[in-house]
Amino acid sequence: MKEIRTIMKKADDPAAIREAGEIIRRGGLVAFPTETVYGLGADAMNREAAEKIYAAKGRPSDNPLIVHINHMEDLAQITDGIPEAARKVAEAFWPGPLTMIFEKSEAVPLETTGGLQTVAVRMPAHPAAQAFIEAGGGLIAAPSANTSGRPSPTTAQHVWDDLNGAVDMILDGGPVSIGVESTILDMTVTPPMILRPGAITREALLPLLGEVAVDNAAPADRDARPKAPGMKYRHYAPKAELAVVEGPMEMVIAAINELCAKQMGKGYKVGIIATKESIGRYPEGDVKSIGTRGDLSTIANNLYRVLREFDADGVDYIYSESFSTGGIGSAVMNRLLKAAGHQIINA
Ligand code: TXA
Ligand code: MG
Repeated sequence: MKEIRTIMKKADDPAAIREAGEIIRRGGLVAFPTETVYGLGADAMNREAAEKIYAAKGRPSDNPLIVHINHMEDLAQITDGIPEAARKVAEAFWPGPLTMIFEKSEAVPLETTGGLQTVAVRMPAHPAAQAFIEAGGGLIAAPSANTSGRPSPTTAQHVWDDLNGAVDMILDGGPVSIGVESTILDMTVTPPMILRPGAITREALLPLLGEVAVDNAAPADRDARPKAPGMKYRHYAPKAELAVVEGPMEMVIAAINELCAKQMGKGYKVGIIATKESIGRYPEGDVKSIGTRGDLSTIANNLYRVLREFDADGVDYIYSESFSTGGIGSAVMNRLLKAAGHQIINA
């Protein structure tokens, strides 16, 4: 792929937003902050621009993109009918960390939807994302702004590390507030189905929808396993071999210390994912706190940064404590187990 000069500008600078909009209208690529993770944006209605996204990420072209919008009126243009239930959900949770899947209209290029007849749509709440979408013409296709297979970026520096030379511009809005990708809710099936858990939980959607299914490949329940493990689930992977250790806290700590000592004895570098509460309990290894059990949103916020730091540290093995699946914990455990290739050790 041809190297391009990547410029990085502050996302709260109106001149930078205007320039970003021009890049999009010319068919270029701009990475931008959202409240979930950074996105890699292009004009959703321009097939060549959508193709550039796949090339920049090294992403398989059958993996569809999310179209980001600012206005409900723009939904009609890209969908083939909006179910009444979707309007209710949009009213409650848009703008916000929720993506809905609809039947697509003819106008949306198949390059944007990875060849599917459905389209994923999200209305982000981040002010810089909104300003950028507006400047870019209102319909921005964007996956997470990481190289395919790496953890999603939660800072502009993460985007730079992955995509410098592959995108025209990075808008730096500082660290994101949520840290895991949006909830994906498929509105083309009955009952609506969560394909990927996120900050908008099943419990939050239930009162509006009555019934909400959860795709088995996106377990809210930590014991569920995807039916067809394989390439599809090998996302968010750190370079090291990661395992999640489950059980009563004291036994988890003892098991991790034992595994750590064993691998270090063989000359390997070991990373440990601990919390504020437990970090003092691990005498050896590269120990990082991922947040506090008192507030799971702190763990969601630090997850991808910590995985990237272990990559930079060059550890061979990572052992992680496991977390409750209440609230945003279902998204945390979903991403953590994917990163671990569903390798669970019972303490
Ligand atoms: O929070 C987010 O959703 C971030 C920010 C940038 O908005 N975006 C994001 O995009 O996470 P991406 O491409 O990394 O993840 C989108 C997921 C993929 O797993 C893709 O397969 C799925 O959404 N997806 C997109 N369109 C779909 C469709 N029509 N049907 C089923 N799944 C779809
Ligand atoms: Mg992604």
